[in-house]
Amino acid sequence: MAILGVNIDHVATVREARKTNEPDPVWAAALAELGGADAITIHLREDRRHIQERDLRVLKESVAVPINLELACSEDVLRIACETLPHQATLVPERREEVTTEGGLDVVGSRSKIRDAVRRLQEAGIVVSLFLDPDPRQLDAGAELGVDAIELHTGAYAQATLRHNPEQTQTTLATLLHASQKIRSAGIVLNAGHGLTYRNVKPIAAIPEMHELNIGHSIIARAIMVGLERAVRDMKQLVS
Ligand code: PXP
Repeated sequence: MAILGVNIDHVATVREARKTNEPDPVWAAALAELGGADAITIHLREDRRHIQERDLRVLKESVAVPINLELACSEDVLRIACETLPHQATLVPERREEVTTEGGLDVVGSRSKIRDAVRRLQEAGIVVSLFLDPDPRQLDAGAELGVDAIELHTGAYAQATLRHNPEQTQTTLATLLHASQKIRSAGIVLNAGHGLTYRNVKPIAAIPEMHELNIGHSIIARAIMVGLERAVRDMKQLVS
């Protein structure tokens, strides 16, 4: 049975939209834990557009479940990871102009930089995962680096389900199944994430030996919808 890592970046996105102190992702992590989250995932981006260093440090002190820190291979965040020691670090590509992580890491093209980052994190005692497209060349290159886990990028599958395209959905799912098999047979822990929703998660959760699914946007989107009515009632009471 797959475990659920809840990505709380979007809570911090709302806070940073006003540069204020609410909503606090630390509160969100506590509520996610109450709801059964098996891990808390955060992405400390170079541009600090949502999660801040303070969030990582306070979460490390307060969260009981493992923290999965997503980060790019850059000096600034690698240093912070090695100081704060999250349970797991997931290396992701990062471009400032992107809305979200748009593709997997290019291990083939940046092998030595990624190898150095993997080694540094593992030497600090952190479990290391690579966020990769289900592309055999990238998976082989990733496996050669001796990583503990690979998180498969489910974005193409998620897009196909959003477009209600059954053919593309089946093709992208088959690609993910092949990739999963490759990861398992290399003895590497299998994780997946990106674009997973209440509608499309089941076939991914059912992939044999799927260890961890990291899901953010869809959960936070639903939280707004299930919580907004109560929030308005609370304010209405004060106003009247
Ligand atoms: N996994 C990785 C590596 C990601 O970069 C993200 C997005 O931050 C997610 C999972 C979660 O994606 P989503 O917010 O679409 O559920």
